[in-house]
Amino acid sequence: MSNIVILTGAGISAESGLGTFRDEGGLWAQHRIEDVATPEAFARNPKLVHQFYNARRAQAREATPNAAHHALAKLEAEHKGSVLIVTQNVDGLHEKAGSKNVLHMHGFLEGALCHQCDHRWAAPLEMSPEGVCPSCGAQQTRPDIVWFGEMPYGMERIGAALAEADVFISIGTSGEVYPAANFVAEADHFGAHTIELNLEPSAGASRFSETHFGPATKIVPEWVTAELAR
Ligand code: APR
Repeated sequence: MSNIVILTGAGISAESGLGTFRDEGGLWAQHRIEDVATPEAFARNPKLVHQFYNARRAQAREATPNAAHHALAKLEAEHKGSVLIVTQNVDGLHEKAGSKNVLHMHGFLEGALCHQCDHRWAAPLEMSPEGVCPSCGAQQTRPDIVWFGEMPYGMERIGAALAEADVFISIGTSGEVYPAANFVAEADHFGAHTIELNLEPSAGASRFSETHFGPATKIVPEWVTAELAR
């Protein structure tokens, strides 16, 4: 009855057509983080920030889960122990594939948040600076996304899960952004077996006990099949 904690990044959604951040031509090659992904950027130019997330929300809505997302949903359905997906991704592809136990530590494109009263609701396709909070009426709506400099969601729950993990597996992330990049060290500290599945070695590859490289749609189903057969 092993507990499995899975960290996913943009690489798991790449073969569903959603851009990664730091690969050639990635999102951070097209937009400066300081223009579209910080609270200061939003205060300075809310229209530009809304446009950036509106475009990503529309693209994410059109995208379909790939074999890697489906393999993780199968793992959750058939594995005897617990399976928690902690995703850095803001798309809903894990949920579309059928995963239930998903924690969006960087927020979620389908979520809207009121800067004034913290009310949360389902985001419309297009958000704008003119939007008003359905609860308090303030004209201070924002995408429910965690920007650089803000505290990721669910950190207590993630810490507790890592402390109980028997297996920690990192999929499709460059290991460049903290605190997610340190989860492997936390899991290792508590005795978990640590695995990296990625297109190529991430910045933290040497910190994992086991690594497999290749496209997620190939290596994730292979790993899930082997794990379920154990
Ligand atoms: N299969 C597996 N891995 C892939 C694939 C693929 N088809 N394509 C790309 N990758 C890998 C890349 O090799 C890279 O290591 O996915 C990783 C993507 O890294 P990033 O673009 O840095 O994305 P991510 O690690 O999710 O970024 C973390 O940074 O900008 C913030 O909030 C943003 O959540 C994001 C966080």
